[in-house]
Amino acid sequence: FLTLDDFDFEDKRVVLRVDINCPIDPNTGEILDDKRIREIKDTIKELINKNAKVVILAHQSRPGKKDFTTLKNHAKVLSNVIGKDVEFIDEVIGYTARESIINMKCGDVILLENIRFYSEEVLSDWKKWEGITPKKQAETNIIKKLYPLFDYFVNDAFAAAHRAQPSLVGFSYYMPMIAGRLMEKEVSILSKVLENPERPCVYVLGGAKADDSIKVMKNVLKKGVADKVLTSGIVANIFLIAMGYDLGVNIKVIENLGLTNQIEIAKELLDKFKDKIVVPVDVALNINENREETDLQKDKKIEGLINDIGEKTIELYSEIIKEAKTIVANGPAGVFEKELFAKGTKELLKAIANSDGFSVIGGGHLSAAAELFGFANKIDHISTGGGATLEFLGGEKLPVIEMLKESYKKYKRKN
Ligand code: 3PG
Repeated sequence: FLTLDDFDFEDKRVVLRVDINCPIDPNTGEILDDKRIREIKDTIKELINKNAKVVILAHQSRPGKKDFTTLKNHAKVLSNVIGKDVEFIDEVIGYTARESIINMKCGDVILLENIRFYSEEVLSDWKKWEGITPKKQAETNIIKKLYPLFDYFVNDAFAAAHRAQPSLVGFSYYMPMIAGRLMEKEVSILSKVLENPERPCVYVLGGAKADDSIKVMKNVLKKGVADKVLTSGIVANIFLIAMGYDLGVNIKVIENLGLTNQIEIAKELLDKFKDKIVVPVDVALNINENREETDLQKDKKIEGLINDIGEKTIELYSEIIKEAKTIVANGPAGVFEKELFAKGTKELLKAIANSDGFSVIGGGHLSAAAELFGFANKIDHISTGGGATLEFLGGEKLPVIEMLKESYKKYKRKN
């Protein structure tokens, strides 16, 4: 990638795309977790110190959702985080925004309004990279109005790197697209645990987004990267069903989540990698909001909703984690929001935090749990990405990363 080391930013206007999409209280608008805002601090401070004029583009949530709101509060939090006033402008491409950008002084920082308020940003089929060329995104009104104002495009939005929206890839058609410090850090750490981890390397995969987790599992097993994959949550249930356990009502849960097709994939993975995939030996059932632990046996039907892994599984998994030199975890082990069923998630996080191995946690729920249970500062890397991290670990091509590579090829020689 091109990095902040490759250019002189003195008196240059920089458009900086970040991902500060945060959990927000829909009633008060209060930002509930500002991790993503704290994580972009280094990039912004460095650009300020290098005397750039920094204009930040970001999104919050998606159209139609309760937390699809203005970035006004983000600007306040960001000002506190960087210790400098960030001017908030409640539009993106209009006259006021453009005039303000033109009149900036060196070291100034502006945050523009939620870019997804502009339908062009969300028009394209954002889940698919195929068919969306940066040229097409470069021809959108958003980019055409803004690009003439800037010298450089810095992209630090790792958590949105799996999206091919105009503000994420469009500018690269007109100017160098440079990786911010967070982007660099995320890609280098995640590449390391995906390509060249210290061994034994253990992946701990849980949560409800089982299809994404199973994609990651498939990738790391095929590549020979993971020595063991410890399953929990819905992921584990899918594998248990594939192995012939009768999970009773839990089968319905998998159907309702639209994940029945994953059972076949689990069977294929078990055929090839049986010795590397570890499933729970016991689970905790939610019986009228009581925790009841039960051992798993093939001839015993499970009577109740599985809400957590059991004590024996916690012990077994913690032992494996303790010996690991690399641990990559994504998704909670159970319904940790309920105190009674938080134990599995909490104990696995504790084992990860106490392990001497290098630990990486995928964004979203598990990082929230790490924060909640006080283990966050003992984890080596908590990724800011949710879907982006899973797609990266799943071996997929991420549009933003592909464009960063392209830009490197295009501009490196000239420098
Ligand atoms: C995320 O929270 O994963 C990113 O901000 C991307 O959001 P999206 O899934 O709405 O594109």
